Amino acid sequence: MISKRRIGGEMEIHPGGLAPREGDGVWPVFSGKEGIHCDTGRSALALALADWQKKSGDHGRFWAPDYLCHSVGDAAARLGIPVEAYSDRPAMLKSDFPTPGDRDLVLIVHYFGLVNRAALAWLAGHAERRWLVLEDCVQAPYSAGAGEAGDYAIISLRKWWPTPDGAALYSRQTLAAVDLANADEAFVSRRLAAQLLRAAGGSDATFLGWIRDAEALLGSSPPRHCSWIAEGLLGGGDLGAARARRRDNWFALERGVAAHAIMGLAPLFATLAPDEVPLAYPIRITGGRRDDLRSWLAGKGIYCPIHWSLPESASAAAQHLAAEILSLPIDQRYGAGDMDAILECINEFFRGITS
Ligand SMILES: Cc1ncc(COP(=O)(O)O)c(C=O)c1O
Repeated sequence: MISKRRIGGEMEIHPGGLAPREGDGVWPVFSGKEGIHCDTGRSALALALADWQKKSGDHGRFWAPDYLCHSVGDAAARLGIPVEAYSDRPAMLKSDFPTPGDRDLVLIVHYFGLVNRAALAWLAGHAERRWLVLEDCVQAPYSAGAGEAGDYAIISLRKWWPTPDGAALYSRQTLAAVDLANADEAFVSRRLAAQLLRAAGGSDATFLGWIRDAEALLGSSPPRHCSWIAEGLLGGGDLGAARARRRDNWFALERGVAAHAIMGLAPLFATLAPDEVPLAYPIRITGGRRDDLRSWLAGKGIYCPIHWSLPESASAAAQHLAAEILSLPIDQRYGAGDMDAILECINEFFRGITS
């Protein structure tokens, strides 16, 4: 069955979803770590960086992979912290991890819901380290093994659930004084209104404009508390069902991509482990056709993000991947018919090229 509905993009909030729900909540737990809720992933990162600065006496260096969401570099820059890049990216065969000094902080990223096993193996080889490790689990809050080995872990549940905000910092040691501003009404209201409007089938231009306006506020926002509405939305929810849907959808696309064997399209990852929960299904489109395919899919109501456009300072290899990557939506809103629709539209695009 081919789905006719829109696929991907910001998660809509149905008014009925605002009512208190059954369940234990969808905040992950990382053994040996205490969590503190905040509004966004970049706030969680800023809190971790501030804590590390206090503990290191402001003397260490901050290392981060060169394949990274721009918001991470921006958050560091706002604290006046230079980023020392090392080479790591999703599905990289041979990463080039740094040689940190005693007071340094190393960020490792778990990409797309897959555990960064190369980074964890490298870490395991440094059992006696005096430097600290921050695991970015924004894309992998629910995959077993992510968020356990580092001193800090950050998540951002607004990427995973219908909520205007909601993120957290987890720390093995007690955090130095944490300073959180109140939730920003302008940000939360715009996003909530946009998500309600999308659910009601309202105007795309209005909905997208409100989301854009809200995101623009983050450029100058201090770390803030998680909003009341997000605490409510994330206090319930069916994580088991979401996990199963996301995995089923991943494998449906994996099978479809393998069966169609389209020249110029390749999956980024060969496997998904049994205890990993994917964010999206990333593919590589070669031949300079990625942006055309993305526009084609958007024209069919299928919205695929790019994780990520990189600054010119990134290595050539990282830039190369960033120019080819496309994330196909597989989240819990969707099922087999939607995955068929995505595959059918991709096939149609490539048939148009070869015919
Ligand atoms: C890996 C990673 N870390 C951090 C962030 C920042 O999260 P937020 O947008 O909630 O600030 C993002 C955002 O996409 C991300 O992908």
